[in-house]
Amino acid sequence: MVIIDNFCNSKPEVINRIQKITGKTVALIQGDVRDKVFLGTVFKQHAIKAVIHFAGLKAVAESVANPLRYYDNNVMGSLALVEVMTEFNVKNLVFSSSATVYGFSDTKPIPETAPLSPFNPYGHTKRMVEQILEDLSASDSAWNIALLRYFNPVGAHESGMIGEDPNGIPNNLMPYVSQVAAGKLKELSIFGNDYPTVDGTGVRDYIHVVDLALGHVAALNVLDKNCGLLTVNLGAGHGYSVLELVHTFQEVTGRAIPYRIVERRAGDIAMYFADATLAKQKLAWQTQRDLADICRDAWHWQSQNPQGYS
Ligand code: UFG
Repeated sequence: MVIIDNFCNSKPEVINRIQKITGKTVALIQGDVRDKVFLGTVFKQHAIKAVIHFAGLKAVAESVANPLRYYDNNVMGSLALVEVMTEFNVKNLVFSSSATVYGFSDTKPIPETAPLSPFNPYGHTKRMVEQILEDLSASDSAWNIALLRYFNPVGAHESGMIGEDPNGIPNNLMPYVSQVAAGKLKELSIFGNDYPTVDGTGVRDYIHVVDLALGHVAALNVLDKNCGLLTVNLGAGHGYSVLELVHTFQEVTGRAIPYRIVERRAGDIAMYFADATLAKQKLAWQTQRDLADICRDAWHWQSQNPQGYS
């Protein structure tokens, strides 16, 4: 296996920890997915059979402030990758897409057939790459492509050795809650409690990162059987509110999470969760870990690595 990373949002130490967990040696090559010459040398030097493409930026607010950076990284990077894959006749690809492509969907749970209407530059880049890959698949049946639409990936590896290490103050709920539990941040701001949900706070489909990883393994197995194009939601199939998550985190870890209700965050959706039946049918995959597992593992990672990877 070969990992390519430009480390703009991650640390090389992760690789050491992956090797410890798996007992396998991993080749790491530092470089940028937009650099076709670089990619060409990697494909020349290694017998690559399939690619899992995670190389994207993912902060919604940053994408609104700096859209060109997002189009460049996410769209141009994907284009460069599939061009080089075509050149080397490697035509099995798993792409990290996002539930964000559904935008303000009225359907709950959301099936893969729901209308698509992303509404920020980050979401547009995900949908554009899906479109490119759909067109590519239609043009050449040798391609096998899995578009995996992630819901809300959270938690950490059970060992506590690899987890999320956001730059600066976290934007997302779970790393924020973890840092409040650790005393690094004073209190959680809950963005609105007047949504039409179970307790007024936003509802999301949280999926444990290990379940998510296993979804990729399942997708690779299906690509091997010449599946063509496959578009699948990766979610648990049910949602939890912010308050439900906070209460579960407190129960599982015994840590207090002080919080305050503040204004809604611009661009937030009240509620969404996956229709997860297609993944079960096509990938023989479903989530195995629940919200308590997610909270336990997130806290395990946070408490063992108070400074992240550094
Ligand atoms: N929330 C808070 N306080 C916080 C952070 C979040 O109350 O400090 C709430 C949000 O309002 C929302 C829920 O917690 O109701 C989850 O918010 P996150 O920021 O963790 O996740 P989002 O659902 O907003 O975003 C995620 C991914 C994005 C992706 C989006 C849509 O992080 O990359 O889903 O698919 F675009």
